[in-house]
Amino acid sequence: MTTNIPAPIAPGSTLGIVGGGQLGRMTAVAAAELGYAVHIFTPEENSPASKVAARTYVADYDDDDAIKAFGESVDVITFEFENIPAETVKKLSASAPVRPCYNCLAIGQDRVKEKTFAADLGIETAPWEIVKSADDLREALKIIGTPSILKTTTLGYDGKGQVRLRADTDPSEAWDALGGNVGILEGFVDFTMEISVITARRPSGAMATFDVVENRHKNGILDVTIAPADISSALAEDACAIGQKLAEAMDMVGLLAVELFVTKDGHLLMNEMAPRPHNSGHWTQDGCSTSQYEQFVRAVTGLPLGTTQRHSDVVMKNLIGDDINDWANIVKNPDDKLHLYGKSEARAGRKMGHINRLYAKGSQPKGWL
Ligand SMILES: Nc1ncnc2c1ncn2[C@@H]1O[C@H](COP(=O)(O)OP(=O)(O)OP(=O)(O)O)[C@@H](O)[C@H]1O
Ligand SMILES: [Mg+2]
Repeated sequence: MTTNIPAPIAPGSTLGIVGGGQLGRMTAVAAAELGYAVHIFTPEENSPASKVAARTYVADYDDDDAIKAFGESVDVITFEFENIPAETVKKLSASAPVRPCYNCLAIGQDRVKEKTFAADLGIETAPWEIVKSADDLREALKIIGTPSILKTTTLGYDGKGQVRLRADTDPSEAWDALGGNVGILEGFVDFTMEISVITARRPSGAMATFDVVENRHKNGILDVTIAPADISSALAEDACAIGQKLAEAMDMVGLLAVELFVTKDGHLLMNEMAPRPHNSGHWTQDGCSTSQYEQFVRAVTGLPLGTTQRHSDVVMKNLIGDDINDWANIVKNPDDKLHLYGKSEARAGRKMGHINRLYAKGSQPKGWL
């Protein structure tokens, strides 16, 4: 139980967001709608979030003066990605409440911590072994076998920092290809579906969870999200319970996205989690009266949470790299809601925007047609 619940941070106050990407941008827009000003802290010039924020501090994470100035200019601080040095978070918390707390980031930024944390709560994952050398990898292969995936423990995203191993893969080459100094070897899951669940939690401990969705990837990057996932209500309830159990156990304030595999025999394995808004929650912008971004702002400021009820079925399609060049055709379809991130350069593999295609509730769209 959370005691001494802090008073809500009222509209008119300033929300500080560390990170300047699209998740920060969409959070800043939602915050503005609730009457908050937003200040961004990011090492990146001209970031997507800075273009919609009242103020941006462009500095490195070890720039003490900038951290202090940013911290003192805001009333509460949150993050749009989890790879922030512990020292930076510690310094920020001297100026304003930091939500979620560092412990949540620390778990979310390290696959070993994340999987251990889940296992301690009785949440299953694929089998895995920690690997620190090519010799370790050979030993781990004896336990995990192939097919399997070697993953960096930190800083992986969009399938980067992963090497797939088959029976004929040379372990030394795989270890070199990873290019890191610590990784995990994870058993390959022959899943029937990938799903995710997003839970919001307030300082009071109250929680609200969005409908469980299906995620399909292309080249390691999320391609489409289908809301809701076509799974049994019992399985959806299990997924929600996993999200809420993790959020509660971390004493998280904010949003927690949990990615899960549905196995052939119909049970759930946790893949990974992120203590922030998530790519697979974009659909809520147009499918629910409260989007994940608004819910995130409500959670970290301590406002009551909004309803997570879905009023439409949605297929979200990510626009990667050159996909954005098709924007003129996309806007012609009145049922497609286009969201662009304001990035000037459409590099290959770069997330440039997304489309939410709306369907009548209950129509169970099957994918992107
Ligand atoms: N053990 C596994 N078995 C089968 N497929 C896997 C496994 N691990 C990862 N994948 C596939 O690779 C994708 C990316 O993996 P993961 O989510 O671990 O990495 P990531 O780079 O952090 O991704 P992101 O940040 O985009 O969510 C997964 O969504 C899934 O499609
Ligand atoms: Mg993932």
